[in-house]
Amino acid sequence: MPRLLAISDLHLRHRPNLAGLAELAHHEDDWLIIAGDVGDKLDDLAAALDALRPRFARLFWVPGNHDLWSDVDADGAGIRGVDKYERQVAMCRERGVLTPEDPYVEWPGARPPGAERVLVAPLFLLYDYSFHPDEIADEDAVGWSAETGVVCADEMYLRPDPHPSRQAWCAARCQYTERRLAEVQAEGTQLVLINHWPLLQELAWLPRIPRFMVWCGTRRSAGWHTRFRACNVVYGHLHIRRSFERDGVRFDEVSLGYPKQWQVERGIDPYLRQILPPNTPTWPGRRW
Ligand SMILES: [Fe+2]
Ligand SMILES: [Fe+2]
Repeated sequence: MPRLLAISDLHLRHRPNLAGLAELAHHEDDWLIIAGDVGDKLDDLAAALDALRPRFARLFWVPGNHDLWSDVDADGAGIRGVDKYERQVAMCRERGVLTPEDPYVEWPGARPPGAERVLVAPLFLLYDYSFHPDEIADEDAVGWSAETGVVCADEMYLRPDPHPSRQAWCAARCQYTERRLAEVQAEGTQLVLINHWPLLQELAWLPRIPRFMVWCGTRRSAGWHTRFRACNVVYGHLHIRRSFERDGVRFDEVSLGYPKQWQVERGIDPYLRQILPPNTPTWPGRRW
């Protein structure tokens, strides 16, 4: 019986994370979702895909903010924004890995109750500074966070070229994605939605640095989990592993994180979250 597994935030710039990947068991029947932040460089993505491709029957990849950083690649100095994303999509395609630019594929294994068909949908939505309290304007959000000494390094490294801003890139991505999700809606069809950033502002829950929510998503995706009939939503970025249910939809934050955020001696296998078949009891705020 195949399983749909997920992990994010492998951050392969960190040696224990890269070493852990090399030790991962083989899961020939299973599919694996890689939900963004593989690393900062194109080489990191190549290393991850080359390690994981022989170990799983199918791989899915979506970009995280780190994957999109500019001016960090020795072999691609100056590659920015959409160009870097497209290079990564091409790297995935060379290896048969599915991306947000590919048709959604049907899950062949056991489905959640009521689903006649489950499609796996990798998304790339980015963020647009709309996660903040209502009394803060989007254009003031970065300053509001900076008041607490918190500014995401994306402000230096994540370039939106050729879009004029990250907000504009996010808007374009959301329009493209919304249209594609609408096209596959059908009675009995449920979706596994995969996006590096959480789809809901209330999920941008960061108790130690609450204002970092500014870099965690877009209000444009509010309600998509019910509107587009998701059975599961898979995300990362927060580096706070959680599983819980909302509106009958299972949400999983599946990050590995930096070496201090996981038990390196256990290896990476225990951090692969099972998405399908649904197996794990969930309750609000379950921590992993
Ligand atoms: Fe991350
Ligand atoms: Fe991230």
